Amino acid sequence: MLYKQATILIADDSGIARRKIVATLREAGYSTILQAENAEQALKNIEILSPDLFLLDILMPGLNGLELCKIIKETPRFKNTPVLMVTGSADVKDHWESFEFGADDYIPKPFHPRELLARVDAHLDRLYKSRANWEYAHEMESLAAARAQQLIHADRLSSLGVLMAEIVHEIKNPLTYVAGNAQFLQKITPEALKAVAFAREKGFDLSPGFANGIDTIEECVSSIRKGVTEVQAIIENIRTFARRTTGDKPEPLSLAKVVEKALAISHHRLKFALTVENNISPDLPPVPGTPGMLEQVFVNLCVNAADAVKEDPTRQQAKLRLDARLEGEKIVCTVRDTGPGMTAEIVRKLWEPFFTTKSEAAGTGLGLSISRQIVESVGGEITIASEVGVGTTFTVTLPLYQEEK
Ligand SMILES: Nc1ncnc2c1ncn2[C@@H]1O[C@H](COP(=O)(O)OP(=O)(O)OP(=O)(O)O)[C@@H](O)[C@H]1O
Ligand SMILES: [Mg+2]
Repeated sequence: MLYKQATILIADDSGIARRKIVATLREAGYSTILQAENAEQALKNIEILSPDLFLLDILMPGLNGLELCKIIKETPRFKNTPVLMVTGSADVKDHWESFEFGADDYIPKPFHPRELLARVDAHLDRLYKSRANWEYAHEMESLAAARAQQLIHADRLSSLGVLMAEIVHEIKNPLTYVAGNAQFLQKITPEALKAVAFAREKGFDLSPGFANGIDTIEECVSSIRKGVTEVQAIIENIRTFARRTTGDKPEPLSLAKVVEKALAISHHRLKFALTVENNISPDLPPVPGTPGMLEQVFVNLCVNAADAVKEDPTRQQAKLRLDARLEGEKIVCTVRDTGPGMTAEIVRKLWEPFFTTKSEAAGTGLGLSISRQIVESVGGEITIASEVGVGTTFTVTLPLYQEEK
């Protein structure tokens, strides 16, 4: 019984009475028993010794047991600790007075050891059960608080998604003219440069600022176009993320073709980091998807692997292996890298929109949340297994394409 580990304090001025109680308790298996001859001794170090139950004699020199009981019960820490009065007084007034002073029970002397034990056991059993309940309630409260925190976080993320979609919508139009004009500038630059060269030949006096600047114009225009293309890609990512599903009707797609295309698109990002082994057979039955969307999933998985390898200088030329097998009515595809892997903390946050460990310019943190959305929109599932120092495996499970009846 757990409550047999309880600490019991006996306060009685009679040594014989104390010894009798101690012997009874010890025989019943209680081992931590404290003894005090009077109230003052009982109160000494009471906070440190922290008894779980008090057995108090009523008639003691100095403060009597009832006054001692009152002090104990007024100490917040012992408010719920059982106090049992033990006395040889024949006065029945002591019985009800004990309760008025806050005692939990009254044991008249002479007592039968079985009676004392029955009462001590019952009070301690109740105390331990209520402590367990309290701990359980406290644990539940903490769980509820943590869950509330998660909900607030999820809500904040979803409002952030809506806000981002609105901002992106506002940026898209002006960006289109920046892109169009940059393209126009790039187109006319060779002619403009020819005109400048002609003017120089003819001895035109060009201002030094213009003369120096014009030579870098091609570089400037191409860097504007590169920047615009990057911003457009980010915007496209955010738009896909904000749009929960595409709404387009799924078509039958060959997974082998999707993956081949994804590898071709990401080739320039993979070639210096990974050796790619693609084992996906073109003979697998088709899966549902809208063109472009599933490629996006595999581009992101492959680029993520390459980025992870690049960030770890000890892992140059790691391997990326893609496999797929038919399992009943599903195709299970794995994208496995021998990169640095991830900690459990990162794995936990991975699917959250905007979670990234990359620098601001390198990642929006939307890749995996978009990928999950795309896979789930066709009834599939994407899961991860990762081990630090060993690598990461993403498993994409897709249903087979079903002709609509
Ligand atoms: N194969 C992998 N190995 C190690 N870490 C990975 C791997 N794949 C993803 N991660 C981790 O998960 C994070 C989130 O990936 P996710 O694709 O969602 O965003 P991102 O790649 O950072 O940005 P974005 O995809 O928008 O460019 C990454 O920043 C990286 O820390
Ligand atoms: Mg990514």
